[in-house]
Amino acid sequence: MTGAGISAESGLATFRGAGGLWDGQPVERVATPEGFAADPALVWRFYSERRAQAAAALPNRAHRALAELEARLGERFLLATQNVDGLHQRAGSQRVVEMHGSLWRTRCSVCPAPPVEDRGLVEPPLPRCARCGGLLRPAIVWFGELLDAADTRRIERFIVSSARGASRLVFLAVGTSGNVWPAAGYVSLARSAGADTWLVNLDSAENVGAFDHFVQGPAGEVLAPLLRVENGDRGDDPARGGDGARGDAGPDGPPRERGEVTPGEGRASYP
Ligand code: APR
Repeated sequence: MTGAGISAESGLATFRGAGGLWDGQPVERVATPEGFAADPALVWRFYSERRAQAAAALPNRAHRALAELEARLGERFLLATQNVDGLHQRAGSQRVVEMHGSLWRTRCSVCPAPPVEDRGLVEPPLPRCARCGGLLRPAIVWFGELLDAADTRRIERFIVSSARGASRLVFLAVGTSGNVWPAAGYVSLARSAGADTWLVNLDSAENVGAFDHFVQGPAGEVLAPLLRVENGDRGDDPARGGDGARGDAGPDGPPRERGEVTPGEGRASYP
């Protein structure tokens, strides 16, 4: 499970905290259906800027580390991301669930026409749906909107079925503050399925108490060594229950006490 923090070292702003996308930017105006209805040009300006920034960015060592881990684990690996920047796929990841949609897709705000690939920087006159004439919008899951049920089902099925598998399930969250549901709740679902749970993050997170291990630091520096994916070292593989990386359980020492939090329903929400 990844969040905006994994793309920070690629030069893309995170959302919360100083200098974040939401710092001084009223979320309601650019990331809700109501905000789009009120001022679609403002919303398109915001997402066009994000498209331009993401197009200019490059995947970093942390993105590549996860792509390498996928190459090693194959179907025993699934990457659920809250990110819409497409950097995981550009790093070579294929088994990716984009829970919050993608910057690179556009869809109709009125009819159920399927989303289309779109890399354009949008300016007025705003684009309209060829099918119904409705305004087109970024295919992003905004606050208050439902995630695609196929995506949440795929994540939940992977967690539950993996728990029945021969090798131990590892749940790894990277670069996320644990503020947004349902993403913030999957660690507890994985935990209740017997997973060993890890958080790699620059700062502590809202749901840090739900993790067995917290490795604090920049993902680009700590993730590859933790996963032992650089230089083809097959060393200790978390999925095979190795323990090399266990010692690095962050500055606060041994695994934390278990905290019980339950996943919310499939609607993107924030405190
Ligand atoms: N390496 C690891 N973690 C980092 C790094 C880094 N280089 N830089 C920042 N972080 C951490 C921060 O400490 C923070 O906890 O990444 C986290 C980013 O948190 P948010 O900005 O809240 O982003 P995210 O958790 O992805 O937000 C979830 O909220 O706004 C919505 O839809 C949006 O998908 C997004 C969702």
